[in-house]
Order: sequence, then structure tokens, then C-alpha cells
Amino acid sequence: MRVPFNDLGPSTRAMRAELDAALARVLDSGWYILGQQGEAFEREFAAWCGAAHGVGVGSGTDALRIALLALGVQPGDEVITVANAGIPPVAAIVAVGARPVFADVTPTTHTLDPDQAATAITARTRALLVVHLYGHPADMDPLLALARQHGLLVLEDCAQAHGARYKGRLVGTLGHAAAFSFYPTKNLGALGDAGLVLTSDAAIAERARLLRNYGWRQQYQSELLATASRLDELQAAVLRAKLPHLECWNRARRERAAWYRELLRGLPLELPGEMPWAEHVYHLYVARTPARDALRAALSRQGVGSGIHYPTPAHLQPPYAPFGRGPGSLPVTEQLAQEIVSLPMFPELERPQIEQVAAAVRAAGLAAV
Ligand SMILES: Cc1ncc(COP(=O)(O)O)c(C=O)c1O
Repeated sequence: MRVPFNDLGPSTRAMRAELDAALARVLDSGWYILGQQGEAFEREFAAWCGAAHGVGVGSGTDALRIALLALGVQPGDEVITVANAGIPPVAAIVAVGARPVFADVTPTTHTLDPDQAATAITARTRALLVVHLYGHPADMDPLLALARQHGLLVLEDCAQAHGARYKGRLVGTLGHAAAFSFYPTKNLGALGDAGLVLTSDAAIAERARLLRNYGWRQQYQSELLATASRLDELQAAVLRAKLPHLECWNRARRERAAWYRELLRGLPLELPGEMPWAEHVYHLYVARTPARDALRAALSRQGVGSGIHYPTPAHLQPPYAPFGRGPGSLPVTEQLAQEIVSLPMFPELERPQIEQVAAAVRAAGLAAV
């Protein structure tokens, strides 16, 4: 039996009739950009998260970029963020002309370390861009306290954390604004690119609405400099059909994480933790071992897919290196990048498949750490 790293097929097949109906509604409407489906999804998703406003945009990266602009981040401002969350958060900061300042993460949550963030603050710091990585929330209270103390804005990157909770509160409602991605593999995924800016601040929402569509409140009349990035009606209709399933899918992911915990117990592999204040939604199931590359080779021999999220931290990649302080500057981030491995995780993964992953890990014969 092959165990794929991810498989979007089962959920698409299970709700094929709902998706067909959703797509047909848009085709029949003859309206494809900024219409009823988009407005309804913005309302429904914001309500689901417990926030006042949602602004649909073309991707998660654009949600970050537009949120930064809507918050008022200016060229030359510094934005503190992590280097272990792939390129999108850093790319968004650079795209608005601001400067990413990298701070290290905690080894337990792989999210922004409040103490490290504190040491990165300068007179030019304008915002913290906090990523709730893999589906585990960052420790927001100390980060929010730091932001209050220094008058900083807080943007949450929730691309991997739809439905995750921090001290009982849904992520995306904790900072000034949040960015969501609905890339197809996300916990809530469209059938193409899609994203959303979430906020309970009416002025930020209004600016985001202008920024996603040439600065137009009234057609063809620009109020501010802006390009365009909009959530289209087909993707919005798909997301509306999928949203009622999200809680159930997140529960299934948590159940699979519990199976991993049970079946991988005693093996020399550090499993993802869940802090007492967190509810993890396991967008990715990221374990850790110094023998990562040998483990991945062994898994592959047994037909088990795996991934690395992400192999090279942003501050060590050529286009972003000038913003960082080079190798050795983020020791936890750099160590984690050598040791992390993402095991198969999706809501329809079956228990025998997780048993097979566990057997393959056991067969890899990792040395005790
Ligand atoms: C942490 C994080 N932020 C932002 C994004 C960007 O989302 P998108 O791919 O929709 O642009 C992603 C997904 O790729 C992500 O994982």
C-alpha cells in the first residue's frame, strides 16, 4: 500500500455533487468577479472566525501584502517575522517596500519567540508578522504585550491554521488583522488560488477593500495607489460549499495526530507538541530527528510520502539573505531546518496507513537521540 503525503482526491470525490452545484450556480449567474458568492463567503468566513470583516483576495500572499498596506506599513518600516515559514511572509513584507527583520522561533512551537522578537525591535519597527505555523498557534499573549509596549501592529499569518485556537480563541482574531490562504492543500482549500484579509477594524477592512481593486470605491475612480487581487466567484462558491466541513476535517486531522502519537510512541522521533494553551489543527504533521534524511529515504522505500517544510530558511536564500545576518544568526530555525520531516497528514488518511507509516519508521532503525 502506498501512503501519499497528501491526497485531495477523497474529499473532492465525497463532495463532488456539492461542488458541481456550487460551480453551476456561478456559471448560471454569468458573474465571475466581486459578486454575491464572494460577499457571502466573506461574511460567512468572518462569522465562522468570530471577526467583523473579511476581504477576499487572490491568494494568501496577496492577503499578507494587502493587510500590511491596509495596516499602514510604509516603505522603510521594519517588520519582525520568522524565517522558517517558507517565503510568502517575507516576500509580502519586501513587496510593500518594508524590511523583514528575522527573529528566531521556539523549538517547541516553531513559532516566533517573544524574547527574540523583543531583541529585534528598533526605532523603525512597525509591525510583527506572526505565523501560526503547521496549524499550531504562536504564543500570542507575550507577543501582543510586546506590541502594546512598543506601539506595534500585529498581523497574523493564518495560512496554515484555519480553526486553530489560542487560549480558546480562534487565531485570526488576536491581532489587528490576519491573512488566510485557501491554496488547495490548506485545511480550507479552494480549487485554485484564493485568500482573505480578516479584521474586526472597519477602517483596516475598508482600506483592504480599496487596495484589492485599484483603489476604487466607485468604478474607475481611484482613491489610492493600488493594483488588483480579488477572490473570484468560482473559488468563493467552492469555499462556501467547503466551509461547513472545516470543523469536521480539523477534528479528523487531530484524530490522526492522536493515532500517530499512539503508534510512534517509544520511537526515536520527536513528535509535534501541543502547548496546554493551544488547539493544533495539524495542517502539517512535523516530527523531528537528526537522522531526517535517512528516515525520508527509508519511508520512500516503503512507499510512504514525506516532505520538508521548509528546507532552507528565508535568511539563507539568496534574494532574502541581504535582509538577514547570515548562517548562525537564527540557531533554532537553522537546526530545525536540518531535522524536520512532515509525515502524511490529511483528513481521510486511514488508520492502517498510519500503521504503515509507523512500521516504516520502525524499520528505518533510527538511532536513539
Ligand atoms: C505560512 C504561509 N503563509 C502564506 C502562504 C501564502 O499563501 P498562498 O500560497 O495562497 O499565496 C502560505 C502558503 O503557501 C503559507 O504556508
